[in-house]
Amino acid sequence: MSFKLSDEQLMIQSMVREFSRKVVAATAAERDQTKEFPWKNFKQMGELGLMGMMIPTEYGGEGADAVSYVLALSEIAYSCASTSVVMSVQNSIVCESINRFGTEEQKQTFLVPLAQGEIIGAFALTEPDAGSDPVSQTTTAVRDDNNYVINGTKRFITSGKNSRAVIVTAKTDETARHKGISAFLVAKDTPGLIVGHMEDKMGLRASDTTDLIFENCRVPASALLGNEGDGFKIAMAGLDSGRIGIAAQSLGVAQAALDASVKYAKKRKQFGKAIANHQGIRWQIADMATQIEAARQLVMSAASMKDRKENYTTQASMAKLFASEMVNQVTARAIQIHGGYGFTKDYPVERFYRDARVFTIYEGTSEIQRIVISNSVLK
Ligand code: CAA
Repeated sequence: MSFKLSDEQLMIQSMVREFSRKVVAATAAERDQTKEFPWKNFKQMGELGLMGMMIPTEYGGEGADAVSYVLALSEIAYSCASTSVVMSVQNSIVCESINRFGTEEQKQTFLVPLAQGEIIGAFALTEPDAGSDPVSQTTTAVRDDNNYVINGTKRFITSGKNSRAVIVTAKTDETARHKGISAFLVAKDTPGLIVGHMEDKMGLRASDTTDLIFENCRVPASALLGNEGDGFKIAMAGLDSGRIGIAAQSLGVAQAALDASVKYAKKRKQFGKAIANHQGIRWQIADMATQIEAARQLVMSAASMKDRKENYTTQASMAKLFASEMVNQVTARAIQIHGGYGFTKDYPVERFYRDARVFTIYEGTSEIQRIVISNSVLK
């Protein structure tokens, strides 16, 4: 299978590439140091239609296809992985889940401003003792007349601090395993919803990752997303799309690492010639380019299946597994090519290496992707 991009997809790719390399790249290294959340970028990205790309236009989105979305996300990740993870979570597990399962009222209240980039959203599934196994979560939502009262702690929540809307999962029936989990769409300023500890991370430092603590947090029954008991499926379906996003993010960072390595290898001279003319370096460059291309094919294949409305769960996991492992190898090689300079902050590759490390972990570890893939192959 080969992929030929349409004129529209090429136009989106080139528009986002220009914006990303001019605007997003300019302050990425600085943000990595200051941890400043790129509000200004998100405002512009909202205006460019990048915060709810696959959402219908009547709800403030662009109505774009998944292929266009992965092209755009890769371009943003090329310049700043912190910016791209916020874009990924917003577009997929937040906006898409509301679009698929939300009521008209939830769409008007939350989806429209999210898709237009006026507010940031978060998705709270993980807990201190429930990461890869979300069914063992202990957050509860107890019905009380026309309300639910939510209690529990969520951990490692992307945009936990800066979001204004949160999809949170909680047990509404503690005896029913995954069928007892429900999802709620909660405004961040609801009393009893508290932003807890903020992580100090090795990478993605301009994206905030926090605990969210629910202490007798009372939400109206209308905050339920989908039906009672739908929460696990909403999360899994959202993660299918999210995993394509993390794979696209991996592609962007890997391409940036390769481009930086090519530039450096052509300039740096050792033993009387540019290191790009030493076979040891040329072969590394060849392997990096080949790995990136293989990952690109998997990402495009998964996104195309999504566009054709086929079941793409397995392909999303394959793309996420391969691309996230690939970017860790490619960024490590980029540092090796840069030698001692690669270990310093004078060159961007050390940031790429740190940013990429979490890609094999969040939105399902590589081990979880292998469970999903092997379940499908062996069924
Ligand atoms: N789409 C829709 N439904 C799905 C599904 C999917 N992709 N995958 C499973 N389901 C359904 C199943 O059909 C089943 O439903 P029925 O009982 O009606 O048949 C139900 O869910 C339970 O399925 P399993 O028995 O397969 O569930 P499991 O408990 O064995 O778990 C798992 C499967 C794949 C391991 C899953 O737990 C998983 O993906 N774990 C990883 C969680 C994860 O990715 N966490 C990341 C946190 S989010 C994050 O990182 C966000 C961020 O901020 C960046």
